[in-house]
Amino acid sequence: MEIFRKDAGKHTVTVEIGDITLLDCDCIVNAANSSLLGGGGVDGAIHRAAGPELLEECRALHGCATGEAKITKGYRLKAGYVIHTPGPQYFGRKEEKTLLENCYRNSLELAKEHKIHSIAFPAISTGIYGYPFEEAAGAAVTAVQEWLAANADYDMQVIFIFLSKKEAQFYKTLLAQPQREGS
Ligand code: AR6
Repeated sequence: MEIFRKDAGKHTVTVEIGDITLLDCDCIVNAANSSLLGGGGVDGAIHRAAGPELLEECRALHGCATGEAKITKGYRLKAGYVIHTPGPQYFGRKEEKTLLENCYRNSLELAKEHKIHSIAFPAISTGIYGYPFEEAAGAAVTAVQEWLAANADYDMQVIFIFLSKKEAQFYKTLLAQPQREGS
């Protein structure tokens, strides 16, 4: 269920409540781990919904560093592609914010390279990896807004999707604020 939509130029940003594995868009992002061999949380749900071919393709990728991103097909998902990005585990170190922002930036960059025009993000690192939700939301929104500003000529819909209404509402509030100068 969509609870927020903002259209600006070639970009649309929406906030939705629901299961990312059910989305009908070009690409969904997986909050993976660096092995890319599956796990719990949204990673487990995506692998279950996509089927065993996804794991097979992931095996051939030989892992992925934290903050980087790799792409596979979506197999049984409605989404044509999955972008896998391992977020940082939260220990409260300064570099974790940069790594989390890198997940969003690198996913968007990879999406553009593959001519993807709609991409859905879960709240990377905020489950099993323990990143405080509100802090992570600030990093996610900043990174996405900066990337969109730097790619004004590229058609892109960014969907932020959450299981809970409370989480979705938090993003809605953040995105409804006027953007900071220069961001
Ligand atoms: N749709 C949308 N959001 C979801 C879904 C879903 N189907 N399922 C969970 N979430 P997590 P992390 C939300 O733990 O913190 C795995 O084992 C969830 O509520 O999936 O980055 C990996 O293999 C939370 O807000 O990812 C790694 O080892 C968000 O997705 C590790 O967990 C992220 O929670 C990664 O941990």
